[in-house]
Amino acid sequence: MNLANPQLNDHGELIHLLSLDGLPREILHGILDRAAPFTAVAEREVKKVPLLRGKSVFNLFFENSTRTRTTFEIAAKRLSADVINLNINTSSAAKGESLLDTVDNLAAMQADMFVVRHASSGAPYLIAQHLAATGRNHIHVVNAGDGSHSHPTQGLLDMYTIRHYKRDFTKLTVAVVGDILHSRVARSQLHALVTLGVPEIRLVGPKTLLPAAAARMIEKGPLRVCHDINEGLRGADVVMTLRLQNERMQGALLPSPQEYFKSYGLTPEKLELAKPDAIVMHPGPMNRGIEIDSAVADGKQAVILPQVTFGIAVRMAVMSMLAGSQ
Ligand code: NCD
Repeated sequence: MNLANPQLNDHGELIHLLSLDGLPREILHGILDRAAPFTAVAEREVKKVPLLRGKSVFNLFFENSTRTRTTFEIAAKRLSADVINLNINTSSAAKGESLLDTVDNLAAMQADMFVVRHASSGAPYLIAQHLAATGRNHIHVVNAGDGSHSHPTQGLLDMYTIRHYKRDFTKLTVAVVGDILHSRVARSQLHALVTLGVPEIRLVGPKTLLPAAAARMIEKGPLRVCHDINEGLRGADVVMTLRLQNERMQGALLPSPQEYFKSYGLTPEKLELAKPDAIVMHPGPMNRGIEIDSAVADGKQAVILPQVTFGIAVRMAVMSMLAGSQ
């Protein structure tokens, strides 16, 4: 484990995927390039590849998930790994067993990879650190979303989607709209967009849902804060919408969902301000009528379902890359 960046080994290879923060552009492009041929497997033109044959991947989801958990499972299976889904509600975690004791026991079953989602920011990092401290660096950890901190594979699949439709990151205006304050997806997207050289990134939302730190970043690079959605969408090439993370909000940060929809909900009328060929993205789960109108979610500019399919290829790329490192 490299102390400066615990995701890399001393040769600069990725051994865990914990966050996109601090990952160099070459690694990000390396993952996206590696994902491209896996789209044939994601779309089932090719059924399976043997890259993870004999490996055991443990899915540890301590928080709800539909897309991420399922696409990690599909990705691992299409790489020929054995996949074990721990059902947290019926596991001994519900009897008070600690996270690290759970990890030690699964490691004793010869796990090769842990895919971890946890409500606490830093949980996957803690596991990686524990594995390094106990001499088990050969077990890889993939963060599948930790608190409001990071969701690196979502950030990567979003970048894959943008690259697929728009090709060149260095010519784009990207608007990220909604609850940026509580969103691990937004944080991962922002790290990736900045690293990949997007020249204009607009953070669009009410003051109460934008991190105070964002205000300090304005004018210091590509990030701009827009409280007015019309200004935020004007001329955008990519519009990323986000769900209100009610489960992470303390206190009332918004007047009402209806008011929010009126000001920040993505409707066909508002979308007209973006470029005519702008794409609309959403990580899911969508709350129709709150952050996005059904006419947009189901409209021809939406690439929300292709994002899900690309997610399989990107997760295959990440897991095969980790498994190939020393
Ligand atoms: C997101 C998550 O769990 O962070 N969903 C996902 O993984 N696709 C976004 C959300 O919950 O709003």
